[in-house]
Amino acid sequence: MKGIIFNLFEDFMVETFGDEAYEEIFASAGLQTTEPFVGPGSYPDEDLLALVGKVVERLGIPADEALRAFGRFCIPPLARRFPVFLAAHSHPKDFLLTVDTFHSMEVNKLFEGSQCPRFHYESPAPDRLVMRYESARRLCALVEGLLDGVATHYGIPIAHVQTACMLRGDPACVFDLSFPPQEGTS
Ligand code: HEM
Repeated sequence: MKGIIFNLFEDFMVETFGDEAYEEIFASAGLQTTEPFVGPGSYPDEDLLALVGKVVERLGIPADEALRAFGRFCIPPLARRFPVFLAAHSHPKDFLLTVDTFHSMEVNKLFEGSQCPRFHYESPAPDRLVMRYESARRLCALVEGLLDGVATHYGIPIAHVQTACMLRGDPACVFDLSFPPQEGTS
């Protein structure tokens, strides 16, 4: 996973536990990485999971809840750092429909060696979106948190129900999203 995600996770931990606790967590997590994480670097996914494990241990919450909280945390800093992706749209559905393309095009270019997730879409109605998430990392709880963060960013609620899950043996994780009906579309 790219260093930018580790840097976001570090900020998330500092916000949650404070600077000192973060230093202690980093030192005791048994990471393969010994140097500070840098944005363009690539680091073992296991290190991210080890840090998630530390959050789980300290907060006494399940790993998927920790990943959801991290996903929600990520959107404001991503929006500040990459305003172009979110600012081009005024509705979360329009933005979410671009997530696959900007990961496979721009993110891949900006962060050499990324192994970005893939998303496929169906739009069964103007106020709905079915998002199919595929990644060997199977971080569907992170996707859920990111969706919540996107809803907050646009000030438009997104109700999401997960109807398939790679962690249960399905070939992809499928999210059925509903948005409030827009004037003139229902
Ligand atoms: C400005 C917005 C965003 C930027 C710049 C961005 C960029 C990135 C980058 C650099 C990675 C690391 C890839 C790697 O290490 O191989 C990543 C991972 C990921 N992104 Fe995004 N992302 C954004 C928004 C989103 C949104 C809105 C979603 C979903 C709703 C999403 C879903 C994911 C997931 C699930 C991963 C984890 C990797 C995996 O599942 O394989 N991202 N993103």
